[in-house]
Amino acid sequence: MSFPKSSFIPVLLIIGFFSFNVWAKVDMTMEDIVEVYLDESADIRCQYVFSEHPRAVMIQWFVRNPGSRTRERIYYGDDTLQIVDNGTDFMGRITVSDIRDKEGVLLTIQNVQLSDEREFFCQVNGMAAGNGEGKTHLRVFDPPESPVIEGVLAGISVTNDLPSRIASCEARNGFPKPNITWYRDSRPLNPAHGKINVVTLVTRESSGFYSVQSELQYKVAKEDKDALFSCEVSYYVPGAARTAESKGINITVHYPTTVVKLWMESPRGLVKEGDTVELRCQGDGNPPPPFSFHRDQDSETLEARDDTLVLSEVTRGDSGVYQCRSLDLDSNQEVTGDAQLSVHYLDPAVVVPKDTEVMFKGENLTATCNALSSLETATVWFKNKQKVGTGHMLFLHDASYATAGEYICEVTVPSLPGLHTSGSVHIIVQGAPQMKDSDREVKMEQGLGKWVNLSCEAHSQPLPSISWSVSGSQSWREVLTRATEQNTISLVSIKVTSDITAFCNATNEMGTETKAFSIRAIPMVTSTAPYLPAEGNGVIILVVILCILLLAILSSLLYFLHKKGKIPCGRSGKQEITKENANKDEIVVEMKTDTKTEDSVLLKGINGDKNGTSNQVTIGYLSCTKTGAYCLQFLLSPV
Ligand SMILES: *[C@@H]1O[C@H](CO)[C@@H](O)[C@H](O)[C@H]1NC(C)=O
Ligand SMILES: *[C@@H]1O[C@H](CO)[C@@H](O)[C@H](O)[C@H]1NC(C)=O
Ligand SMILES: *[C@@H]1O[C@H](CO)[C@@H](O)[C@H](O)[C@H]1NC(C)=O
Ligand SMILES: *[C@@H]1O[C@H](CO)[C@@H](O)[C@H](O)[C@H]1NC(C)=O
Ligand SMILES: *[C@@H]1O[C@H](CO)[C@@H](O)[C@H](O)[C@H]1NC(C)=O
Ligand SMILES: *[C@@H]1O[C@H](CO)[C@@H](O)[C@H](O)[C@H]1NC(C)=O
Repeated sequence: MSFPKSSFIPVLLIIGFFSFNVWAKVDMTMEDIVEVYLDESADIRCQYVFSEHPRAVMIQWFVRNPGSRTRERIYYGDDTLQIVDNGTDFMGRITVSDIRDKEGVLLTIQNVQLSDEREFFCQVNGMAAGNGEGKTHLRVFDPPESPVIEGVLAGISVTNDLPSRIASCEARNGFPKPNITWYRDSRPLNPAHGKINVVTLVTRESSGFYSVQSELQYKVAKEDKDALFSCEVSYYVPGAARTAESKGINITVHYPTTVVKLWMESPRGLVKEGDTVELRCQGDGNPPPPFSFHRDQDSETLEARDDTLVLSEVTRGDSGVYQCRSLDLDSNQEVTGDAQLSVHYLDPAVVVPKDTEVMFKGENLTATCNALSSLETATVWFKNKQKVGTGHMLFLHDASYATAGEYICEVTVPSLPGLHTSGSVHIIVQGAPQMKDSDREVKMEQGLGKWVNLSCEAHSQPLPSISWSVSGSQSWREVLTRATEQNTISLVSIKVTSDITAFCNATNEMGTETKAFSIRAIPMVTSTAPYLPAEGNGVIILVVILCILLLAILSSLLYFLHKKGKIPCGRSGKQEITKENANKDEIVVEMKTDTKTEDSVLLKGINGDKNGTSNQVTIGYLSCTKTGAYCLQFLLSPV
């Protein structure tokens, strides 16, 4: 801005001049509203265009005081003087400067305060060139703090006739005044008569900020127990509107009980005697009403803990209908729930015949096993842990000794595996003795004078006794009798003196069974020569021949040596010629002086007999004739 040097004219004169210069014109351009955040700086432009070039221009800025029509000047400037007026709110915070490239001035307000929200007037006076005025409304903004929501902790009953206070929300220190909106599950709640009231309290703080408190009054329904309530604060900022949402809160809704349910919590499935049963009761009201438990329609109250009735070690007598009753205090109505309890049972098994039953061989018997149960049962018969039948009847046909034994029936309840019982019967089968191998006559041969053992084994119930009759031998005796539970065994030892026939009779009260033996006596050949295997003969003959040959050579050698006098003859003594560590077959030649009349050479050799304790066997005798005093003994020792 440029002020012509000679244009200073007193204010009074300006006003007078202004009144008659109507033909001259100034076009003013100012923004209606300038928006700014608190504490920031605001720029207000004042642009003007003169229709006639002015000789001097005078600029003044005014503000309108809030709540009054009076204006206060805050700035004066012409081409010689620029004054920021003393004693105003803007002292020290405003500057006025030229607008670059354009005819006009820029008012800058630093550190904007809430109280700066006013109308700013720009007055331009060009004397004869005319004058003009424009205004701008400065708006100041400061966002409020985040909204704080608080729910009502106490339960709210759906039976309340009027909307109840359920939550309050506060947004503090905002400028300008923020708004609060309520939401239920993200949907806005608009006030509705008799259903939703919103009570708002706006406080102007001494600092100039606004704090808004909002209370939601709401007629709750049962569905609201799971709803989430929240509030939202909305406020303006320069050039925009913003919102901030609070967290969601729950409310506790109280509603009457209309339905009561009673059910068996444990055990799962069927109940058997001895089980501990838990019946639980639940109503659909909130808070849960107190319950009482009853048997059938009885007025007597069963002892229970809260919502659970525990029946320990139930019996079939506990079966029946149980009832849970709840009295709603609001509506004063009794609501009940029923549950049927069926306690299943399986009585001990009754077996017929009981304990022990005696059967005769060949007889038939039907055994039964029954156990009373509230459920369908299954019966299996076992003998020696083997399954022998199913069903509650067991048919024993044509009894034999194998039939005898302990029969166990096991009764189970397929639908309730915990239930099972068992019973047993011991079957004894009586009959005539049964001899082992009685059907064939035992024939055997034995050397005369030898002993033979004959045995008989018989079984029966009652136990058989065994007796023998032997013909053909005077010399026999029973060497063993043994009786087990069902068997009797007898063993006799007989000397074979001639052909023998023997019988053994197994006898009890029920009968006799006989087993026959016949023994043919064979005369003994009194040969003491040991038996030689045929194939060994050839080898032995060969060895004998070789020995004779060797003997002949040795004899000649000895005779020759004797003649030469190398070996003393006729003296008592023994010399051994030992070939140490020779081949596998070691030959020991032993020379003995023998004074006995008969000299002999004993030849020993390896025999093929593997089982014999001795590996040496006598294979024959050779008479020593020529050597006289010498006897040669050949030992063929095996390795
Ligand atoms: C402006 O204020 C200062 C002190 O704040 C004072 O000295 C001065 O005289 C005042 N001027 C006017 C014109 O009131
Ligand atoms: C607050 O509510 C008033 C009245 O409904 C409305 O004029 C104003 O724009 C709202 N303010 C905000 C920040 O939404
Ligand atoms: C609301 O309340 C229910 C029961 O009181 C609770 O299970 C649920 O977590 C709550 N939800 C919130 C968001 O607090
Ligand atoms: C045993 O039962 C079978 C077949 O059921 C029958 O043929 C037989 O005569 C019966 N025996 C006795 C001794 O009753
Ligand atoms: C016969 O039995 C007796 C006694 O058990 C036994 O000592 C003997 O060796 C047996 N004799 C024969 C030839 O088996
Ligand atoms: C054995 O039984 C037969 C007939 O079964 C009888 O003749 C014999 O005398 C009996 N012998 C003995 C020793 O009991």
